[in-house]
Amino acid sequence: MRDDLDEILLNETEIQRRLNELAGEIQRDYAGRDLMLVGVLTGSVMFIADLLRRLPMPLRLDYIGVSSYHGATRSTGELIVTKALKLDVRGRDVLVVDDILDTGLTLAKIREMIQKLGPRSLKFAVFLEKDVPHQDNFQADYVGFHIPNKFVVGYGLDYQERYRNLPYVGTLKPSVYESDRPVL
Ligand code: XMP
Repeated sequence: MRDDLDEILLNETEIQRRLNELAGEIQRDYAGRDLMLVGVLTGSVMFIADLLRRLPMPLRLDYIGVSSYHGATRSTGELIVTKALKLDVRGRDVLVVDDILDTGLTLAKIREMIQKLGPRSLKFAVFLEKDVPHQDNFQADYVGFHIPNKFVVGYGLDYQERYRNLPYVGTLKPSVYESDRPVL
């Protein structure tokens, strides 16, 4: 294990196995529907890429960019749209795909924004759901894994924009947060 990591919570094998199950559920639920996946930038990139290759059905793909925090480990209430949707969601079955459901603030806002655009249906798939109370009682429709309330990195998730490329999910050693040195 890398020496800046404290523990590995989810390894590559268990992630890939769970993705097979999730993709199977999504494929069954959306058979014959007009599926449009909307990935939330940037953290969902790995999750959505792995899901996509397991969904051999007609679908559309778009991304929405939002920014809810800036380098810190906590979300704030502010949400800035950094990339608007390109495709029309009206009348389509939209499945928003995100990396992690923490407070639920981000996805509750995204739900509000997309709902106004008149989709036929609107559901949410998250790779991880943290064991914390969610804003607005936000419920995801598909959850990869439930995890304890710890700050995690890897598989798309970052600390100060690093670690997204790890193919597994882990926590960082406290020394990484305490250090003034740039993250390697
Ligand atoms: P909320 O609280 O709005 O947060 O549900 C969702 C967004 O906050 C970021 N986030 C994390 N990012 N490790 C990360 O790298 C974490 O443990 C973590 N918890 C929340 C993330 O951008 C997510 O989309």
